[in-house]
Amino acid sequence: MAMNANLSVIGCGYLGATHAACMSSLGFTVVGVDTDPEKVAMLSRGELPFYEPGLDTLLAQEIKSGRLTFTTDFSAVAESDVHFVCVGTPQSKDGLAADLTYVKSAVAAIAPYLKDGSLVVGKSTVPVGTAQSLRKQLAESAPQADLAWNPEFLREGFAVEDTLTPNRLVVGVANDRAEEILKDVYAPIIALGTPWIRADLPTAELVKVAANSFLATKISFINAMAEVCEAAGGDVTVLANAIGYDPRIGSRFLQAGIGFGGGCLPKDIRAFMARAEELGAKQALEFLREIDAINLRARQRVIDVVRSDLSENLTPYKLAVLGATFKPDSDDVRDSPALDIAAQLHAAGAHVVVHDPKGIEPARKRFPNLNFAETVTECVKGADLILHLTEWSEYRALDPSELGHLVKNKIIIDGRNALDRELWRRAGWKFHALGRTD
Ligand code: UGA
Repeated sequence: MAMNANLSVIGCGYLGATHAACMSSLGFTVVGVDTDPEKVAMLSRGELPFYEPGLDTLLAQEIKSGRLTFTTDFSAVAESDVHFVCVGTPQSKDGLAADLTYVKSAVAAIAPYLKDGSLVVGKSTVPVGTAQSLRKQLAESAPQADLAWNPEFLREGFAVEDTLTPNRLVVGVANDRAEEILKDVYAPIIALGTPWIRADLPTAELVKVAANSFLATKISFINAMAEVCEAAGGDVTVLANAIGYDPRIGSRFLQAGIGFGGGCLPKDIRAFMARAEELGAKQALEFLREIDAINLRARQRVIDVVRSDLSENLTPYKLAVLGATFKPDSDDVRDSPALDIAAQLHAAGAHVVVHDPKGIEPARKRFPNLNFAETVTECVKGADLILHLTEWSEYRALDPSELGHLVKNKIIIDGRNALDRELWRRAGWKFHALGRTD
């Protein structure tokens, strides 16, 4: 099959658009299908509907090459040999479980066009057991095709790098043939020495949620230590640094602060708990409930610091919030702890002004009543307190002395433990940070 295989990508959001452009850059002919005509029109012009470093230029380049096209017409997949399903699996509106509507309808929509010997490859994050049931469904509607599962581990902000040079490739397959097809498709990436892990369908699905649960656990662990440090008069940044030197622990993902957000970690741990309960293994994942609770508590702790510094009644105060996105180098505000804190302070009556280098428009869409500032200067002018909630590098580069002339009170809360405390203190600021004694 190799380089002459034609690929289709169903669902052109974050994952799909990245996968489509990256596979095209490896030399494949790729058609991306999405039901949203606006998104398809933008992508077809080589424009990215979201911010992701490096993907904009790659997309434009691949569109220009002629190998990559986008359409709303599902019949376009009839030419393809391998079909990657990259649609979203959001948290359902009425509970913790994942909503599988889009995955099911994507597979149903392509079924009539699947050619003999073609392979449907799920990439979306799904509850364990989904792949097996979709495979059964396909065996009835399109017996000429097979189904595999190939979870992705890309991080926003590093999407291209994580797709083209991943730290491992995991494929869930029911037979050797499906594995061979995927080996052909990923040959250029395997050639880089990327570890290749063959699993059965349920294990492949589980690898993904287990990885995200572990990452969430690491973050909540350090945030729990931050709570204890606050109570005991310790410093969580020193603690994290010290335990991180043990290679069994590792220093990454031990950044204490306002916790994890985004379109993956929060909803994935909740969906995992819901699925475990269905499977009769509820107790095994009870700890994830605590991970979720610690994570949400970090937001409340920041609000408590604001109140204890200013007053219970926040109405008379202007609060400057630096950062709206769930992490830097992204314009994603889904389940963003920063934006949630800003909205809660606004709801409590404070005059909140939010700045973000990339996330103002998405944030405004979600919270039209919040005030937004285009520049940091405008945001902090006359502020009674600054909250640093997303660790964009431009915030680390701020000069505390200069900022000191703009604000009303020189008080800052570092919600990400990313600013240089001594620098701010030397410039006369009262500096609070989660997990660090003042
Ligand atoms: C996460 C995983 O890291 C990816 O491996 C996975 O593929 C992806 O979800 C997914 O399921 O699609 P992402 O959502 O892009 O990637 O974000 P992360 O880099 O994991 O950060 C998640 C959140 O944790 C952010 O809000 C970040 O600020 C927070 N975080 C991260 C901390 O609070 N402390 C840390 O030490 C690290």
